[in-house]
Amino acid sequence: MNVAEAISLIETGDFAPVLAAGTGPDGAALREALAERARAVREPIYGNDVFVRGLIEISSYCRNDCRYCGLRASNKAAERYRLSPSDILACADEGYRLGFRTVVLQGGEDAFFTDEVLCGIIRSIKRAHSDTAVTLSLGERGRESFARLREAGADRYLLRHETADESHYAMLHPQSMSFENRMQCLRDLRGLGYQVGCGFMVGSPGQTAATLAKDLAFIASFRPEMCGIGPFVPHHATPYAAEPAGSVALTCLLLSIIRIMHPHVLLPATTALGTLDPNGREKGLLAGANVVMPNLSPVSVRKKYAIYDNKICTGEESAQCRFCLERRVESVGCRLVVDRGDFRG
Ligand code: 5AD
Ligand code: FES
Repeated sequence: MNVAEAISLIETGDFAPVLAAGTGPDGAALREALAERARAVREPIYGNDVFVRGLIEISSYCRNDCRYCGLRASNKAAERYRLSPSDILACADEGYRLGFRTVVLQGGEDAFFTDEVLCGIIRSIKRAHSDTAVTLSLGERGRESFARLREAGADRYLLRHETADESHYAMLHPQSMSFENRMQCLRDLRGLGYQVGCGFMVGSPGQTAATLAKDLAFIASFRPEMCGIGPFVPHHATPYAAEPAGSVALTCLLLSIIRIMHPHVLLPATTALGTLDPNGREKGLLAGANVVMPNLSPVSVRKKYAIYDNKICTGEESAQCRFCLERRVESVGCRLVVDRGDFRG
């Protein structure tokens, strides 16, 4: 398949043959051509700018039991911690000094973080840094809760859909969770005026070319402002401990396809990509990503936020992580910018 054929298939929403060709024997040349095209469509919208988000991992407690995740409730060996509101503010202040104009509060589904507690934290961050965007990544909550957090000043919400295939969703998650509720959360967030991020793992157990084609079709119709995709990485204390990790090359191909079909989307080069390949994030940027998310959590807790094994950036200070990423971004001809990095619609 040549690149023109691939692009026209992507534009008509016929993804399966492109995935087959891009992962087949002559896939490397097609992947490179699609990456080049992805960079070309990114350029007029975002130039060479890469946006930076300071990630604060606020809690490793989680009431959920997703089969792939090291923080699942049934992993009794996981070390649990939660940051206090003042710890979180201190991280946000440090992020501001380092030039971050977005903070992402990410955590497990922890009952400690009620609407009241979170609204207080969001308001304090906004009071201290009115030009900073606040992104939440705290799992499923009710519409009323999303509404209160939005009113307190939250700008964006990340909630990966994980898979757009209902039976695959049921395989990856406990019975208490449902595909329908996940989708309802995403619709609620959109209706409340958040910039919304969905996304999925590449190479999760049970994933097939058909489920991936459904993920792409979902993204094409939902048109999220952000889309987080990274390879699956096994965690030793989960039912998927012995499953193989996802592929870096397939992740990059998917980043390129998503950039081509939805040119304005904010697309991170994820930590999971950097975990599987020392140059994974650089490869992600070259494939069309335009966001990086350095870790801003206190170094004392970083190893405890173990979603998967061998996670990188767990020993470094926030400033080290920021300057390391800046060099990496520049090594592929991009530049890290001091900017909120809003979706350009
Ligand atoms: N490997 C890669 N990504 C994972 N996530 C959870 N567990 C893993 C894993 N083992 C991703 C999920 C979740 C996000 C916070 O991290 O997609 O939405
Ligand atoms: Fe975190 Fe390199 S990006 S240490």
